[in-house]
Amino acid sequence: MAKRNFIKQFFKDKKMVGAVAPSTKFLCHKMLENIDFSKTKTIVELGPGTGVFTDVIIERMSNDSRLIVLELNDNFYETLNKRINDSRVQIIHDSAEFIQKYLDTIQPDLKADVIISSLPLMVFPEELRNNVVKSSHDALKKNGKYIQFQYSLQSKRLLESIYKSVTVKFTVKNFPPAFVYTCIKA
Ligand SMILES: C[S@@+](CC[C@H](N)C(=O)[O-])C[C@H]1O[C@@H](n2cnc3c(N)ncnc32)[C@H](O)[C@@H]1O
Repeated sequence: MAKRNFIKQFFKDKKMVGAVAPSTKFLCHKMLENIDFSKTKTIVELGPGTGVFTDVIIERMSNDSRLIVLELNDNFYETLNKRINDSRVQIIHDSAEFIQKYLDTIQPDLKADVIISSLPLMVFPEELRNNVVKSSHDALKKNGKYIQFQYSLQSKRLLESIYKSVTVKFTVKNFPPAFVYTCIKA
């Protein structure tokens, strides 16, 4: 059901959805394996889709942490918002560029420990891509992590221009195979 809806949303707006199928559990594992959830209090997820990563983040996050999720697609937002009922989680129907606005409503100038992004950066118009990368960087704490998957290495240069360190892992156990970028803020 979730898979069928995903492909339907892809054909409605290919540039927004950016993939034909939800990510696999293998990619989910690679995205989340370097997060110490016991020390992570403010988590942001960008572009949850049907919630493949969201569900695992919720399972792993501690009781005193919070998860802020931004999804722009109407259908994904509504479905996820109906399905997830957890006082630690806030699902927001807005574009990823506006992260800081929502962190500020929790606490002025609150910064995230970790941002987990599935946004299809390389199909975005350049201005949106640059805005999302910059606003994510601004919304992170010092030494905070920005974890992003992509289907190519095209984003590497952009991420390296803004983060103090960028490491890349790869998994073939996803369709399409994916690169996972872990970026650390100076
Ligand atoms: C490649 S899909 C990934 C979905 C899911 N996380 C997964 O891995 O299966 C990209 C997601 O980003 C969302 N998205 C695209 N542009 C966005 C934006 N500007 N702000 C927030 N979400 C956006 C899409 O609607 C879609 O849910």
